[in-house]
Amino acid sequence: MEPVTAADAGGGWRGWREAAEAALYGPGGFYRRPEGPAGHFRTSVHASPLFAAAVARLLCRVDEALGRPAVLDFVDMAAGRGELVTGVLAALPADVAARARAHAVEVAARPAGLDPRVEWRGEPPEGITGLLFANEWLDNVPVEIAEVDGAGVPRRVLVRADGTERLGEPVSGAEAEWLARWWPPAAEEGLRAEIGLPRDRAWAAATGTLARGLAVAVDYAHTAGARPPFGTLTAFREGRETTPVPDGSCDLTAHVALDACAAATALPGARLLSQREALHALGLSGARPPLSLASTDPAGYVRALAAAGEAAELTAPGGLGDFGWLVQPVGIADVRDLFVDVADDEEH
Ligand SMILES: C[S@@+](CC[C@H](N)C(=O)[O-])C[C@H]1O[C@@H](n2cnc3c(N)ncnc32)[C@H](O)[C@@H]1O
Repeated sequence: MEPVTAADAGGGWRGWREAAEAALYGPGGFYRRPEGPAGHFRTSVHASPLFAAAVARLLCRVDEALGRPAVLDFVDMAAGRGELVTGVLAALPADVAARARAHAVEVAARPAGLDPRVEWRGEPPEGITGLLFANEWLDNVPVEIAEVDGAGVPRRVLVRADGTERLGEPVSGAEAEWLARWWPPAAEEGLRAEIGLPRDRAWAAATGTLARGLAVAVDYAHTAGARPPFGTLTAFREGRETTPVPDGSCDLTAHVALDACAAATALPGARLLSQREALHALGLSGARPPLSLASTDPAGYVRALAAAGEAAELTAPGGLGDFGWLVQPVGIADVRDLFVDVADDEEH
């Protein structure tokens, strides 16, 4: 790809960050459309109610770790149409639900018919005590993309509304520092990196709203040493993966450098788990029910079989099970107590 020249200025070329910001969240943007994310792709939340039940279980464990406060906050960060917060409220035991205060943070408007207990807002509330949970938020926080030119220099990738790309100026300043620390591309023409700085800042701000409790970011993730050499920018429309075009017609997403996000908060005690590990520790198992149940309780067997299938999807290697769970405690001694092995949990 050739660098953009002065003659191209004003030809609608923008960095991917600005272009994606407008395409996803601007007037008429993709995420403001009435069908919501579920009209275009399936997250863990849509895959099975077992996911919300596991998050509710985590909220109960946070509640215990906090000494059962009078008000227990649950923040569904980047809530889509409020599916997760609705599922969590439904799965909480009555004594916890009675103390729970539910917040959904979203760019899009409050959906009609949402549980009136859910407070719908554009920014997370300050000073919360409880659990802030962000499922597939950070991958939708737009980032700049760098591509190495023929001289081995990483340059900003510029894009037009039709998806045509050119190279812009060399990456500099804080973005160059981020690349050098977290994703230094080799000096090989065509290699790409996604500059996660806006995600680090977004995550640091979100975790900064916690007075005490736990912040969890769940996303497609990669860590230093295993970055994808050509980046991960892609798009989804009506259930299909498609070419990324910043025209508001599709989701634009790129995997998240969760290790960089963790470091940006400067909070001690962060852990990075796979979704498989996290959900197993929260009591989800993809194990099939014993065949003997089929003769003693056929309906129960069918239900258990369906649940096992859903749990298997949520924890599948090569699929949702490989998602990263960045877990960051604030004022909780050790998050290992929250993610205890199921067998251990049942013994205590
Ligand atoms: C991939 S969807 C995930 C929705 C939901 N969490 C789920 O897992 O089904 C990403 C959502 O993040 C929202 N979003 C992105 N940036 C946001 C921000 N800064 N504040 C609130 N919501 C945001 C989008 O509007 C979109 O609904």
